[in-house]
Amino acid sequence: MRSNIFIVTNLQDKKLNEIKSFNKEDWSSAYKNVEKELTKEPLIISKGENIKDLNGTLLRNGPGILERGGQWVHHPFDGDGMITSIKFENGQPFLTNRFVKTKGYLEEEKINKFIYRGVFGTQKKGGFLNNALDLKFKNIANTHVVKLGDEVLALWEAAGPHALNPESLDTIGLTTLKGVLKPNEAFSAHPKIDLNSNASPELLVTFGVQTGPKSTIRLMEFNNAGENPGELLIDRKDTFNGFAFLHDFAITTNWAIFLQNAIDFNPLPFVMGKKGAAQCLKSNPNKKAKFFIIPRESGLFRGQPSLIIDAPEGFVFHHVNAYEKDSKIILDSIFYDDFPSVGPDENFRDIDFNKYPEGKLKRSTIDLKKKTSELETISEQCCEFAAVNPKNLGLKATFSWMASTSQKLGNAPLQAIKKINFNSKEEISWSAGPSGFVSEPIMVPSEKSTNEDEGFLFILLWNGERRGSDLVILDAKDLKELAVYELPISIPHGLHGSWVKN
Ligand code: CO
Repeated sequence: MRSNIFIVTNLQDKKLNEIKSFNKEDWSSAYKNVEKELTKEPLIISKGENIKDLNGTLLRNGPGILERGGQWVHHPFDGDGMITSIKFENGQPFLTNRFVKTKGYLEEEKINKFIYRGVFGTQKKGGFLNNALDLKFKNIANTHVVKLGDEVLALWEAAGPHALNPESLDTIGLTTLKGVLKPNEAFSAHPKIDLNSNASPELLVTFGVQTGPKSTIRLMEFNNAGENPGELLIDRKDTFNGFAFLHDFAITTNWAIFLQNAIDFNPLPFVMGKKGAAQCLKSNPNKKAKFFIIPRESGLFRGQPSLIIDAPEGFVFHHVNAYEKDSKIILDSIFYDDFPSVGPDENFRDIDFNKYPEGKLKRSTIDLKKKTSELETISEQCCEFAAVNPKNLGLKATFSWMASTSQKLGNAPLQAIKKINFNSKEEISWSAGPSGFVSEPIMVPSEKSTNEDEGFLFILLWNGERRGSDLVILDAKDLKELAVYELPISIPHGLHGSWVKN
């Protein structure tokens, strides 16, 4: 039986050591192609009870094709995007899933063979000679899924978004967002929904990067409520020196914050067909990481120039949240000691977790007056995919929820969900170990919630014991398991998702 262990801080060390081990096959068995597309399939509860009055739709994206004709992708991030929607109607969930029918997906599906190289190292068959000088990318639309206006968008940061029908998830096609984007313009996979702006009750704030010897960040703020949802309200461009690799960012009421890691991009092995583009990123110990801090045009410092401030060492994919305190910005992020890349000779389904750096929750305090930053570790435990209550995004939050390892130190698969209280430093955890593996928890406040931690956490879980996917709903306050549904499709370990109103 899968044991769900509820741990309070004081008991943590002992219990966590007990559940330290995991079976790598239980974990890697999640990596297989999604076999079918379903439409509004009712989910049957296997534990707990339906949550009465729950209405809304959980959307989630992640790689759904990992192998074609016996050839595996080199890294799961190269897998074609597959969207899952789980729509709750008065507590009863219904599942719909669709592959994003990108140009590359359709071409490769026809002949069941990879004909594009992947950014994370997937090569066409035929060795480096067949890959050299082929710099074409497949827009795989596999990273995030959000609703903007009346469109659901499947996102992949290096190219334009794909629009999907919100109900059927059928692919409409690449969209320019009513002419806002140039065809296939880069559009980040990490938009932020700001519920606290004066400009609109709901803003979708996002960016695109045009990179090269100089990099330009285009910061866009879309109205996402009331009349004209989807309308671009704010558009600003800032140019910085150097190659920029920016996966995520953070916002406060007045600022958009970017962390430019101290990495170099050497395109030669990619051009020569030996490595994927992302495998050509390398930390440069002689370089200094930088914060690019851009005033939001919806805020107090509109029209002012952006700031560049030295940032702490380390590599960041994801930020948790940021807020302003006097003339400082407090920014929480998941830091790695180095850029974790799967080398050309490694098999991602059999990686040695000990060889890779683990993510740790750290807090940067950025002083906008003195132009300095300081870093403090909040927790040593390996974690990823951390979030705050969406109502607190950009403001001070007391709580954060995240996926973490079950063990307290070192790297391992993510098997637990952890809640941290930033004020008291108290942590509680729910573990799916030893054979369950978690993904990004999506925090949804309950309808009339007044407390920050009142709501639900939605987690797609890989159940290694039955080799299938479960949807788990936890109480955000105490991480108590409220409902578990066994899903009728198996979904590989995935990426990001969101919650939208029905
Ligand atoms: Co991400």
